[in-house]
Amino acid sequence: MQAKGAHPSFTSRLAFIIVTAGSAIGLGNIWGFTYVAGANGGGGFVLIYLLALAFVAGPAFMAELLIGRMGKASPPNAMKKLREGAKAHLPWQGVAWMGLLSTILVLSFYAVIAGQGMYYGLVALQGGFEGWAEDAVVGLDASFRDAPLMMTFWSAAFMTATAIIVSFDIRTGLEGAGKILMPILFLMLLGLVVYAGQIGDMSSAVDFLFGFHDMQFGPRLFLDAVGQAFFTLGVGVGGIMTYGSYMGDDVNMPRATLWILAADLFVALAAGLAIFPLVFASGVDAAAGPGLVFMTLPLIFSDLPGGAFVAFAFFLLLTFAAVTSSISLLSPTVARLEEAGFRRGPSAAVMAFTVVTVSLLTIMSFADWRDFYPLAAIGLDGMTPFQLIREGVSNIVMPFSGLAYCLIIGWALKRGDVRAALPMKEGGLFTLWYGVMRFVAPAAIAALFIGAMLS
Ligand code: PHE
Repeated sequence: MQAKGAHPSFTSRLAFIIVTAGSAIGLGNIWGFTYVAGANGGGGFVLIYLLALAFVAGPAFMAELLIGRMGKASPPNAMKKLREGAKAHLPWQGVAWMGLLSTILVLSFYAVIAGQGMYYGLVALQGGFEGWAEDAVVGLDASFRDAPLMMTFWSAAFMTATAIIVSFDIRTGLEGAGKILMPILFLMLLGLVVYAGQIGDMSSAVDFLFGFHDMQFGPRLFLDAVGQAFFTLGVGVGGIMTYGSYMGDDVNMPRATLWILAADLFVALAAGLAIFPLVFASGVDAAAGPGLVFMTLPLIFSDLPGGAFVAFAFFLLLTFAAVTSSISLLSPTVARLEEAGFRRGPSAAVMAFTVVTVSLLTIMSFADWRDFYPLAAIGLDGMTPFQLIREGVSNIVMPFSGLAYCLIIGWALKRGDVRAALPMKEGGLFTLWYGVMRFVAPAAIAALFIGAMLS
């Protein structure tokens, strides 16, 4: 039990690592990484993605966790608290509020994709996919996207599950979900890679992801790779900051972060090695876009004896991966409402309802608005509302907030306070870390934005 009135925390170091890794590991690793890597031609994209993780998104992730740890409140109030004792008085709370708004935007498409995963689980449970040919699998994806009501229903189902978990206190809800779901997810994924290696084309997949082809290292590829690095870690919207505020005082943050980053990278690469062997062994186009996982994964199961059951288990786990992330996306607004005196249950319900309403933008983008480009007039032709939301948050809001977090930790707060909060010993390693926070990460993000604007 915790003292009454104290800011809550997770029960142990391991619990913090599992729950935060659960936030990082999600649809971004399985659905997002594979389709964005596919659309950008593989190898070169993966290289830039790894560099972005190490020098840009990874440091920003640490900065966000640290702000949460030092501020111990919901993002707007954590920022407010730190701002009071700081050297620079920039509008940091604005960054926090922009993050909270973005959690709703991210959830609005996250729920639709996760909902599709749940629906596929049900299809599998009814014996679906067994013996299906490629046309049938591709057709199921198309027909789901043609049915707005069905998409709304499944998105609402997913958000209901999310809201129920978040409505409990954090040790029961967030921590309980992570501890149960994450280990199963890892085991399933490993099994899947082994299986894909047996029935798919593993060598083409490895070559695609790690080999060099005639890569076009344009600003687009950079923006996508950096955006993917931010999205996969979930940096820049306040979810990580909120979890940072629940970090126990005994957690060694640098070490915990390394574990979380390694787990996240492992899952993305494993998902690539599970999905691309099947892409290349089938006729599915690697650049097929957001439907890629839904067009390939069912094929794995189609000629496996007992495939329907395995398919059911897999889509259930995809849903689990999504839930351990969506709870971290709903937590910041619920934490803020709690500070305003509302109870967790009703707050979670109201936020989930808001998300489902906004998700209609994504649902319609998949259905009747496939050719509706609202911002065509300002040069964003060919982008549906879904694409504007997805890319706007991943490629613009997240890196921008990441930049702000790094500047706060690197420049606005006192060096000694930052070092003590990590904690790290004074010395070469800390100086290096601090230099990345002050110079390398901010410069890289600024260069990215300037490059994108000039192109
Ligand atoms: N990182 C999650 C994923 O890869 C998504 C996420 C975004 C989670 C923002 C929290 C905050 O799917």
